[in-house]
Amino acid sequence: MKIDDVTAAHTTTRPGDYPGERLPEVAFIGRSNVGKSSLINSLLQRRKLARTSKEPGRTRAIHWYRVVAQEGGCFFVDLPGYGFARVSRQVREQVWARLIETYLRSDRPLVLAVQLLDIRRDGPTALDEQMIEWLRDARIPVCFALTKSDKLSRARRLDAVAAFRRRLAARDEEEVIAYSAQTGEGRRALWSAIDARVRAC
Ligand code: GTP
Ligand code: MG
Repeated sequence: MKIDDVTAAHTTTRPGDYPGERLPEVAFIGRSNVGKSSLINSLLQRRKLARTSKEPGRTRAIHWYRVVAQEGGCFFVDLPGYGFARVSRQVREQVWARLIETYLRSDRPLVLAVQLLDIRRDGPTALDEQMIEWLRDARIPVCFALTKSDKLSRARRLDAVAAFRRRLAARDEEEVIAYSAQTGEGRRALWSAIDARVRAC
């Protein structure tokens, strides 16, 4: 996709509140602090578009970024992270879960869920597994980005990709991509997965 422009289009903390415009949507999903906002900035080569933080729980709203491209364009959707222990259980389960779940159950034209997982973990956490099972049940196309790949040596990165593929029982069409927002590793591979889904719709 050749990007002409990127703009912040809509932000909400209210379930059911979406942009008026309908474009194919690519959602970025994962635990708090896994690197969703950093990955969005790196894909779009905008350093400060999505706010990032060392503190987990930075993104508390859903943010839509309009990606304008010659081929048509899409929205990138930055979702709040799940599994953030320092927020009260009630807020986590009711407010955040409702916001994310309402979005995923909505009739928005969601063409791809990019599920982020920290490459340094041995596999998905229980919450990740629940999310992935839910996405697959809902027949939402999924691909996996193993984030912070710069933290591992090259050999360990390759092992990690193979181990995650097994642990996730990833289907052939579900890409598993080692990604680093710092070095740009995986950027091309993830873009081609996104492009394929955006074009297919
Ligand atoms: P929430 O909004 O809290 O859900 O977090 P997030 O998933 O959006 O994570 P964010 O992008 O804010 O990144 C969290 C921390 O991880 C920050 O300190 C980032 O600098 C760091 N980080 C993100 N991606 C990478 C990466 O590829 N490599 C390294 N080394 N650090 C990264
Ligand atoms: Mg974030």
